[in-house]
Amino acid sequence: MSNNLLKGKRGIIFGALNDKSIAWKVAEKAVEQGATITLSNTAMALRMGGVNELGERLNAKVIPADATSVEELEVVFRESMEALGGQIDFVLHSIGMSPNVRKNIPYDDINYGFLGKTLDVSAISFHKMMQVAKKVDAIADHGSIVALTHIAAQRTFTGYNDMADAKSLLESFGRSFGYVYGRDKGVRVNTISQSPTPTTAGEGISGMNAFLDFAEKMSPLGNASADECADYCIVMFSDFTKKVTMQNLFHDGGFSNMGLTQAIVEDYIEKK
Ligand SMILES: NC(=O)c1ccc[n+]([C@@H]2O[C@H](COP(=O)([O-])OP(=O)(O)OC[C@H]3O[C@@H](n4cnc5c(N)ncnc54)[C@H](O)[C@@H]3O)[C@@H](O)[C@H]2O)c1
Repeated sequence: MSNNLLKGKRGIIFGALNDKSIAWKVAEKAVEQGATITLSNTAMALRMGGVNELGERLNAKVIPADATSVEELEVVFRESMEALGGQIDFVLHSIGMSPNVRKNIPYDDINYGFLGKTLDVSAISFHKMMQVAKKVDAIADHGSIVALTHIAAQRTFTGYNDMADAKSLLESFGRSFGYVYGRDKGVRVNTISQSPTPTTAGEGISGMNAFLDFAEKMSPLGNASADECADYCIVMFSDFTKKVTMQNLFHDGGFSNMGLTQAIVEDYIEKK
């Protein structure tokens, strides 16, 4: 259902890989709500996933870029402004990857070269994106930038490994750059802290199925789906959130404020 919340707005969506991706749903909903968009992902992801088909369906130019490369990000912002015909109103950073997680390396034995990669891809790319966008004056006044994060940035979750450290840094960039971008250009920057979600990145975390089940039972409203996360992103891109900035916004069915639920107690008693 369209309410035209993004009518006339131009956006860039980073990180759609396949139809499970949160960014994929955001792209579909943004267009449904009246926006025109471009899509970006790595050349490898574009070969593997169905992003080119998504681009055709949504009439969105697909621009390959490794988000760790400042030069390639410059191309994304420049070509997006050309393709969409003006400054950009919203950007989604939906990017995460840890070689330590992928290779199942325990947290107390991580490879520091891999840690550098995790931080660069999953967090520093967010800073690079904003620095490039600001330098080329790509974002319109009242523009909105959102990155996706997880509560493991603040509390320790077994198996989350160095992605937790990357998410802490990502959230900090949201606040620090949010100040500078708000002050200088009126652009807002927020992070959305999403429930565990069965996507390609999510399923890479060890013990994900147990965590999905635990979080579902620990959240009064249940886990938030990728679709629901996309709805929240759309609201954050819309003019209804013009003064929301530098926030880490929990979109987790209440998980972050729970201590213990009845559902967990019953589960525990049953298994004893
Ligand atoms: N799935 C979850 O449980 C969950 C929970 C909270 C937050 N998040 C976050 O949501 C975001 C999206 O992940 P998702 O769950 O939709 O999974 P996903 O695997 O569909 O998306 C991750 C994307 O990152 C892209 N990517 C990896 N390296 C890149 C690089 N160097 N340059 C550009 N793009 C690169 C991948 O190609 C992929 O499209 C991530 O930041 C993730 O950490 C996910």
